[in-house]
Amino acid sequence: MAVQRTFSIIKPDATERNLTGAVNAVIEKAGLRIIGQRRIQMTQAQAERFYAVHSERPFFGELVEFMTSGPVVVQVLEGDDAVAKYREVMGATNPADAAEGTIRKLYAKSIGENSVHGSDSEENAALEIAQFFSEADIAG
Ligand code: RTP
Ligand code: MG
Repeated sequence: MAVQRTFSIIKPDATERNLTGAVNAVIEKAGLRIIGQRRIQMTQAQAERFYAVHSERPFFGELVEFMTSGPVVVQVLEGDDAVAKYREVMGATNPADAAEGTIRKLYAKSIGENSVHGSDSEENAALEIAQFFSEADIAG
């Protein structure tokens, strides 16, 4: 298995409940390394660009409003097969469908306020990391 990077966001519903450390503990326990991390307030433009793929979906406005409603923690994760591994660690989009022990099963409030984002492909991971990090702010 190749060492990969993936992009993660700890979303506003989680930062609001002071769960950054709890989420990071699940990430690290799964064998992923947090090699870049920054807490930011996303602007509307940043959120719209980040979720542009969903711009035609009925929940787009709500999603952008949610992602800008409070601070988020943007992260670069590294590990074997990191993209697929982190999707597994996150659990299903809807916490009602998420497996035991996953971040969303443990902490998500709803399908919208679901605590974390993770890239869905290696190609998207590279694009998403580049939107929020310069190489100088990543140390593996
Ligand atoms: P993400 O991109 O945030 O990692 O989540 P995902 O791949 O599991 O889910 P995706 O289909 O890409 O949806 C992106 C985010 O939009 C919100 N959402 N709301 N109200 C709804 O029906 C609905 N569906 C999706 C969630 O915050 C989801 O994570
Ligand atoms: Mg997605």
